[in-house]
Amino acid sequence: MKAVRTAWILFLIALALAVAACSSRPGPQGPQGAIGPQGPPGPTGPAGEQGIAGAAGQDGVSFTPPEYVGSETCAKCHSGVFEQFSRSGHAWALTPVVDGQAPRIPSGEVRTPPQDMTWDDVAYVVGGFQWKALFVDRDGFLVTGEAAQYNLDNNLLEAGGEFAAYHAGEELPFDCGACHATGYNSRGMPATETAMVGTFTQPGVQCEACHGPGSLHVNNPFAFRPIVSRDAQTCRNCHMSGEIETADGFIQHTDHEYGDLFPGKHAILDCVDCHDPHAGAVVPRQEARQSELRATCANCHFRQAREDKVHRQIRVACDTCHMPQLIQNALGAPDSFMADLKTHQVTINAKQMEQFAADGSILPQLGLNTTCRQCHNGELGIGPNLPDAVLLNAGDGYHEPAAPAVGESASVAP
Ligand code: HEC
Ligand code: HEC
Ligand code: HEC
Ligand code: HEC
Ligand code: HEC
Ligand code: HEC
Ligand code: HEC
Ligand code: HEC
Repeated sequence: MKAVRTAWILFLIALALAVAACSSRPGPQGPQGAIGPQGPPGPTGPAGEQGIAGAAGQDGVSFTPPEYVGSETCAKCHSGVFEQFSRSGHAWALTPVVDGQAPRIPSGEVRTPPQDMTWDDVAYVVGGFQWKALFVDRDGFLVTGEAAQYNLDNNLLEAGGEFAAYHAGEELPFDCGACHATGYNSRGMPATETAMVGTFTQPGVQCEACHGPGSLHVNNPFAFRPIVSRDAQTCRNCHMSGEIETADGFIQHTDHEYGDLFPGKHAILDCVDCHDPHAGAVVPRQEARQSELRATCANCHFRQAREDKVHRQIRVACDTCHMPQLIQNALGAPDSFMADLKTHQVTINAKQMEQFAADGSILPQLGLNTTCRQCHNGELGIGPNLPDAVLLNAGDGYHEPAAPAVGESASVAP
């Protein structure tokens, strides 16, 4: 009997399982739920091993001052600037004579050394780019004598192209490095015996004369910028002199563009407002590339540029009248009131003919002799030889609009 009951119980369990199994099929799996929040951070790991020791530091303050490297080094990266610069006067302010050969100054005019000398006797040529050349001998003296200065040919003055006297009979040590050389040290002791005063690192007005010694920049151009100064003071260091010397009807070569520029109203301008410091003024003039002058007079004085009631047949350039050649570097032609270097004093006093006071000192403004008689002189000039009264009359109110001709109705003043 017990066996039968057990069989029944087993049967009923099996039946219940079978019924449960057949009752429903499972649905499709639901979508995954959202990701839960991040758990708390794990425990801190153990400390690492100590790193290796760093290199030893330098003692105290350490500074290597920049040194002069020379323009050829700059040319490796700034070839365009170097090329332009090489054609300007600065590069030729002082040129060494190498292997007894005439130096290759762009003017090409300085072909022979002063009389009784060979190129082997000459250490340097001073200038020879635009106005004149002087010579330094192997002992460091400027060559003096009756035929020691070479004046370059000057078409405008119909003069030059020959040797002239320079301090004949005097002994002059070369002491011109402050303006004609780079890295000049007036108290430096030259390595070899010479009469030259002071030392320099490169002859001529090189890149580093304006931009400062460049070794740090050359080794790391982005970390070390050279000096870039647009201030006229950079130029004044060389383009000025203490006092203005006058003789023979001209200001004598006193290196003073600055001196006569800045007493006037242009004092607010910097040299580089008008000049590209790498191009200079001479080559742009010779090649009529006036666009290399950065600003023309008309850029700022457009009213005056419109009005010229006097010269209608010919065009007279602004700088012909306002920057006449009042300075004598090498040559001067007193009869035509014209020397060979332009002044930067632009102010014309139309009521003044003379340029010099009775005691020979220069008057502060330009007179009409200087301004107009370079053409109106009956000598070299291209204009008719007009009397003073006519010039004074025409100069007064030069840029005022012409008075209406007779018969035209003048505008009525309000
Ligand atoms: C190795 C290449 C290299 C040499 C060599 C080199 N320069 Fe430079 N120079 C540069 C670079 C690159 C720049 C631009 C740096 C910048 O924009 O930060 C530069 C910029 C300049 C500037 C403009 C700086 C400014 O603030 O705008 C001047 C000026 C200059 N160099 C002058 C010189 C002079 C002078 C020399 C020679 C003593 C020289 N460089 C030699 C690569 C060179
Ligand atoms: C204060 C700076 C300064 C000193 C010092 C100086 N010069 Fe000059 N020199 C110049 C300037 C600037 C010019 C460019 C023309 C001008 O402005 O007169 C020049 C032009 C010249 C020229 C004509 C260059 C050419 O290409 O035609 C010669 C030559 C010359 N100087 C020789 C000398 C001699 C020699 C000495 C020393 C006894 C000397 N200079 C001292 C600044 C100077
Ligand atoms: C008589 C001074 C003078 C000399 C010499 C000179 N520079 Fe400059 N340079 C300047 C001035 C000033 C500027 C600033 C900007 C301007 O007005 O052009 C300048 C700007 C520069 C610049 C940046 C702008 C540009 O024009 O590319 C470079 C690069 C430069 N000079 C390189 C040189 C190198 C290289 C040399 C020699 C081959 C040289 N300079 C010689 C005065 C000079
Ligand atoms: C208002 C514009 C202007 C300013 C500012 C200026 N110049 Fe000039 N400069 C000229 C003109 C224009 C010329 C003549 C160019 C020509 O002959 O084609 C000239 C010519 C020169 C010449 C050559 C002179 C000759 O007879 O061959 C020198 C050197 C010179 N300038 C130096 C300087 C110096 C240095 C400064 C700053 C102290 C300066 N200039 C400021 C406009 C200017
Ligand atoms: C280290 C002295 C020195 C400095 C600084 C200097 N100059 Fe000169 N400059 C000279 C000398 C010297 C000459 C005559 C070179 C020759 O003709 O042989 C000259 C000639 C010139 C000339 C006429 C030659 C030409 O190529 O047109 C101009 C223009 C001129 N400088 C403009 C400037 C300007 C602009 C500056 C400033 C950015 C300047 N100079 C800074 C010494 C200097
Ligand atoms: C960048 C602008 C600028 C350039 C370029 C310029 N000037 Fe000036 N000029 C001035 C300023 C500013 C004054 C002073 C304000 C005035 O009188 O209008 C002035 C004044 C003058 C004066 C009057 C001076 C006086 O004492 O009353 C004359 C003349 C003159 N300039 C001539 C020239 C000539 C010539 C040139 C070209 C070689 C020239 N300027 C280029 C800005 C300039
Ligand atoms: C670059 C040379 C030059 C300069 C500088 C110059 N002139 Fe002239 N001028 C001439 C020529 C050429 C003539 C004749 C052609 C003409 O009338 O345009 C002339 C004509 C004249 C005439 C007319 C004469 C007549 O009989 O019709 C007067 C007036 C005059 N100029 C005044 C001046 C005054 C004033 C100045 C100075 C502020 C001056 N000139 C500067 C070249 C010049
Ligand atoms: C033939 C000579 C001559 C020429 C060329 C000349 N000027 Fe003048 N300029 C003068 C005279 C003369 C004065 C003085 C007028 C007066 O004081 O009444 C003068 C005066 C000026 C003045 C002072 C303000 C005024 O109107 O009196 C400026 C600025 C001037 N000129 C700019 C220029 C410019 C820019 C040019 C070229 C477009 C130029 N000049 C060409 C002779 C000339």
